[in-house]
Amino acid sequence: METSEMHSVILNVNGTVHTLKLMPWVSLLDVLREKINLTGTKKGCDHGQCGACTVIVDGKRILSCLTLGVMKNGSEITTIEGVADGENLHPLQKAFIEHDAFQCGYCTPGQICSAIGMLQEGKAKTREEVQDLMSGNLCRCGASKGIINAIIAVQEGGFNE
Ligand code: FES
Ligand code: FES
Repeated sequence: METSEMHSVILNVNGTVHTLKLMPWVSLLDVLREKINLTGTKKGCDHGQCGACTVIVDGKRILSCLTLGVMKNGSEITTIEGVADGENLHPLQKAFIEHDAFQCGYCTPGQICSAIGMLQEGKAKTREEVQDLMSGNLCRCGASKGIINAIIAVQEGGFNE
C-alpha cells in the first residue's frame, strides 16, 4: 500500500537497479532483506553492536541496521550476494573456507563485507590492527581466530580492491 509518507528511492544493489517506495524509517537492512529479498545480509542485534548486517555502500563498509534506506538514494550497494565474480568466489570467501573461518555462518556475510571494506581502507598493517579494525564484527562461535587468519592471508596475497 502506498501512502504520502513514502519516498521514491533508487538503489543499485549488486549491479541491479531497484526503484522502491520506502517509508522514511525503514532501515537499509530491512530494505535489502524484505523488499529486495537479499537475505544474505543478517540481522543480529539490529542495534549496531554485532556487525552481522555489514554491507558496502559506495565503497565503504557500513552497518545497514543503523542506516535508513532513504539515506542511500542513488547509492551503489554490495551485499554478500554480490562479492563473487560469477562462479568465482571472492578471495575472502575462498580464504574463509581454507582457514576454517566459520561455524554456524551467521556472522560470515558481515565479516566478509567488513573485511573487504577494511582492506580497501588500507589502514591495518599488523595482526593486532586487523583485529582492532574488525572488532565491530562479532562471532559467537569459535571462529574469530580463523576469521583473522583468513583476512591476513588475503591481505598478504595483495588483495586490496
Ligand atoms: Fe546491525 Fe547487529 S544487526 S550491528
Ligand atoms: Fe557462528 Fe560466527 S560463525 S557467529
